[in-house]
Amino acid sequence: MAAAALMCGCADKTEALLTVDLQDRPVNVPQDLWGIFFEEINHAGDGGIWPEMIYNMGFEEKDIPTDCTLDGNDVVGPRKPNYAYGTVRDYRFHYFDPNDQSIGWTIEGQNAAMRVVTTKPLSEANPHSLEITVPYWGAKLTNEGWNGIPLKEGEEYNFSFFLRADPSFTSSFTAALVGSDGKSLYEETFSPSFHGDWVKYDAKFTSKATDSKVKLVFNFESTGKVWLDYVSLLPEKTFKGHGLREDIAQTLADLKPSFIRWPGGCIVEGMSMENRIKWKETIGDRLDRPGQFDLWGYHNSCAFGYHDFLQFCEDIGASAMYVVNIGLSCMVRNGDYYEMNELGGIIQDILDAIEYAIGDTSTKWGAERAKNGHPDPFPLKYIELGNENVGERYIERYNYVYPIVKAAYPDIIFISNHGTPGTLPETYTAPTEMIDAHYYVNPETFYNTVHLFDNLPRDMYKVYIGEYAVNAGVGSGNLDGALAEAAFMTGIEKNSDLVSIASYAPLLENTDFAQWPTNLIRFKNDRVFGRSSYFVQKMFSENRPDFIAGSELTLPEPDRTVAGKVGFASTVSAPDASIQVKGFTVSGKAPEWDATGSWKVEGDGFREGERKDLSGLRDPGLYIPGTLKNAPVQLSSGGWLSSKESYGDCDIKASVLWEKVFSGCEFRVAVKDDANYIAVAINAPRRPRGAAAPTGPQRYSVSVNNMVNGCRLALGTLTTDLAFDEGAWHDVSVGVKDGEISCTIDGKEIGKVAYTPLERRFAVSGYDNETGEVIVKVVNSEAAPMATRIQLAGAKEVSKTGKAIVLSSGSLKDDNSFEEPGKVSPIETDIKGLSDDFTYTFEPYSLTILRIKASL
Ligand code: AHR
Repeated sequence: MAAAALMCGCADKTEALLTVDLQDRPVNVPQDLWGIFFEEINHAGDGGIWPEMIYNMGFEEKDIPTDCTLDGNDVVGPRKPNYAYGTVRDYRFHYFDPNDQSIGWTIEGQNAAMRVVTTKPLSEANPHSLEITVPYWGAKLTNEGWNGIPLKEGEEYNFSFFLRADPSFTSSFTAALVGSDGKSLYEETFSPSFHGDWVKYDAKFTSKATDSKVKLVFNFESTGKVWLDYVSLLPEKTFKGHGLREDIAQTLADLKPSFIRWPGGCIVEGMSMENRIKWKETIGDRLDRPGQFDLWGYHNSCAFGYHDFLQFCEDIGASAMYVVNIGLSCMVRNGDYYEMNELGGIIQDILDAIEYAIGDTSTKWGAERAKNGHPDPFPLKYIELGNENVGERYIERYNYVYPIVKAAYPDIIFISNHGTPGTLPETYTAPTEMIDAHYYVNPETFYNTVHLFDNLPRDMYKVYIGEYAVNAGVGSGNLDGALAEAAFMTGIEKNSDLVSIASYAPLLENTDFAQWPTNLIRFKNDRVFGRSSYFVQKMFSENRPDFIAGSELTLPEPDRTVAGKVGFASTVSAPDASIQVKGFTVSGKAPEWDATGSWKVEGDGFREGERKDLSGLRDPGLYIPGTLKNAPVQLSSGGWLSSKESYGDCDIKASVLWEKVFSGCEFRVAVKDDANYIAVAINAPRRPRGAAAPTGPQRYSVSVNNMVNGCRLALGTLTTDLAFDEGAWHDVSVGVKDGEISCTIDGKEIGKVAYTPLERRFAVSGYDNETGEVIVKVVNSEAAPMATRIQLAGAKEVSKTGKAIVLSSGSLKDDNSFEEPGKVSPIETDIKGLSDDFTYTFEPYSLTILRIKASL
C-alpha cells in the first residue's frame, strides 16, 4: 500500500520502488565471495587450459582404471556395496572402442600397421607407445590434434617426440605440420639411431601461416619397425610463461576470481578408490605423471596438476582451494570406500599436500615445491574434505580426519560436504567451519530460491556454494539461465555473512569433446568465449560491494487469479501401482475431457494404460550414465486428463481408487498446458527399485505445487501424515476460491494455501568504500521494462551522474557463440539526472548494475 501511494505521487509512471539506506549495513561482504571451480571434465585441462596440441600424445588415452573391467563396450566398476546405499550399484558407462588405444592417430601405406604396445616403456608411469610396422616402402602417420592443430603465423612452437627404431629401419624420416591447403607450415628431417633405445627429438620452429586445421604428419620412407611415444607440440608463448593456454587462462583471469577450487568434482572421489586423484602423481615431469582414466570417460593426464593449479592461483591473485578424497569414492557411481583403519594414507596425503603448498622449504614437501621451481609458499587457504559425499560413513570420516588436519594447520579453512544449509546431523562431533552445497537447477528453481538463505541460522557454520548453475531447460545455456543465476546470486550477496564463498560449475568446455550440457566458458582448439552466465559472474565479481545496504524492492501486487482448465494425472512409483478415477465433477457438472497418453475411459471413470520409466532423468534433466538402473522408479504414460473447458473459482470432486500403495496422483487447476499449472499432489512414498510391494496402510503426503515451465515449485505442504490402504476408493475434493487452493479427503479438510506467482525481479544494493559508489544490482527477467523509483537514503551527497552496466538481449533464448561471442555481453553507459530520489527503467530480460557516487 505504501509503495502504491508513493508511486501515485510520482510524475512518471513507475512500477516499482527500490529504497536503499546506506546507514543500514547488515552485512560486510567477504573478499572471497566469487571464485571459480576447475575440474577435468569436457577436456577442460587436456585439450583445454593445458595447450598440448597432439591428441593422445602418450598413447595412454584408453587405459581404464586398474580396478575396473570391460564388459563389452562398458567400463564396469568394482562390484562392492555402495558406502551410502549399502547395495552394489553395478555402475557402468559406455566406453568407445576398447581395442582402439591409438585413438587420434591414423596410418596410411601399403600394409602399414600401428598398434599400442607396452614393450620397453619410455616411462613406467606411461607405459604405452605406438609400434609402427612398415612392410613396404613408405608409411604416413597422422594426428589431427584436438579437431585441428591451430598454428599462428610468426608464433614459436616447441615440437618433440621420443622414437626408438628397429635396426632394420635404416632411413631418415620427416615430421611436418601440414596446413589445410596441403602446404607445410614446418617440416624437418630426422635420423633414427640404431642402438634400439628411446631417443628424444626436439625442434623449435616459427609457423609460416595461421591455420587452425593443421595436421601433424610423420613420413617414414623405409621399411622396418619404429616405436613412437610422447609426441608433443606446445606453444612457446603461454600465460605468464607458466605453460597454460593464453586465451583460456586470460578468460579465467578476467573473471578476477578470489579463489580457485581444484581438482573436482567427482574426479576427486573417482569411480573407485583406486581411481581417485592422487596429487603426488600430478606434480613434476609430465612424462612421469601416470594420469587417471577420468570418470568423465577419458584419460586425464594431469598435465594441469597440483603445482600448476597453485601457480595459476598465484598468477591471477586468487586463493587456492584444494579438494581431497576422504576415503570415499563417488557415491553416484560405485561408492567404494576405505575402512576407518585404512585412512592413514589418505590423511598423510592431505597433510603432505598442505605442506607442499605452504610448508617451509626445510620440510620434505616444501623442499619438493622448491625443487619444482617455487621456494615461496603458494596461497593455499581452503581444504575441502570430500566433494559430494553424504551420509554417516562420510560424517564418521570427517569427525576422524578434521581434528587431525585442523590441529596441524589451524589457519586453513576446512570445508565439510554437508550440503543442506540450515541443518546439521547430530552425528557431526567435529566442528563444521564451512559446508559445501551444490545446486544444478532450472531457471524457475533459482527464481524460487533467491530467499533461501534469508532466515537461516548464522551460528552454525559458513556456507560455500561450491557448484551451482542453471543446466536444465536451457540447452547449452542461455540468457534465461544466466538471469536466474544472477537472481540467485543477489540472494547470495545479500546473505554473504552466511554464504561467504561461491563458485559456478562446470567452468570450461571444449565444445568438440564435451560431457556436460551447460558450462560457463566454451572453447575450441583456437577460440574461446564466455556464455551469458560468464558475464553475470564477471559483473558480480567486478562489482562486489564492501557492505550490503539495507534495501527493499517493492513491486506491484501480483495477479493471483487461479483460472484455466482442470486436470488429473498419476504419479505412481512402482510398476504394479496404479490409480483409477471416477465420478469427476467440477462445480457439480461432469466435464468433458481430453485424454492423452494411455489414459482410457473405463466404466464411468478413467484408467491409465501402459507407462514408461522416466527415472534416471535427474531433475534438472541431466542424465548421468549408469544411474538409470539404480534410480528410484518414476512411471508415467506421458499423458493426463484435461478438461475441455476453463474454470475460475470452482470445486472439483472425484473418487480415486488406490489399486496398490505407491500410487500417487495429482489434481491440476489453472492449467495452461502440460508444463504450466497448479497441482494438488497426493504423493505416494517412493518405493526403491526392485523392492517388493508392501501391503497395509502407507504414509502419504499432500502438497500444492506451482508447475512453471515444467518445473515443480512448492507452494505449500498440507500434510505429511495421511494413511492410504490399497484397494480402497477415497473421495477427494479440491477447491479454488479467491486465489486459495484447498483440499478435502473423505470429508476431512486437509488444508489450504494461497497461490503466489513466481517472481522474476530482484535487487541487492551495497557500497564500494574505495570508489565511494553505491552499487545497485537489479535483475528484471520479465518481457516488460521495469520503471523504478530509486530512493537513496543515508548519503551526504549523491552525484548527478553515474554509470549503468547492462547485460540483456531480445530473447531469453539468446546466448553467445563462436560466431557472435559478444551477443549477450554487458554494455556500460553513463547515466545522468541522478539524485537521492530518481527513476531508472530497467530493460526487459536484463541484469543491470548501477554505480553512483555517494559520500557517506
Ligand atoms: O560439475 C560437474 C559435477 O557435478 C561435479 O563433478 C560434481 O561434484 C557434481 O555432481
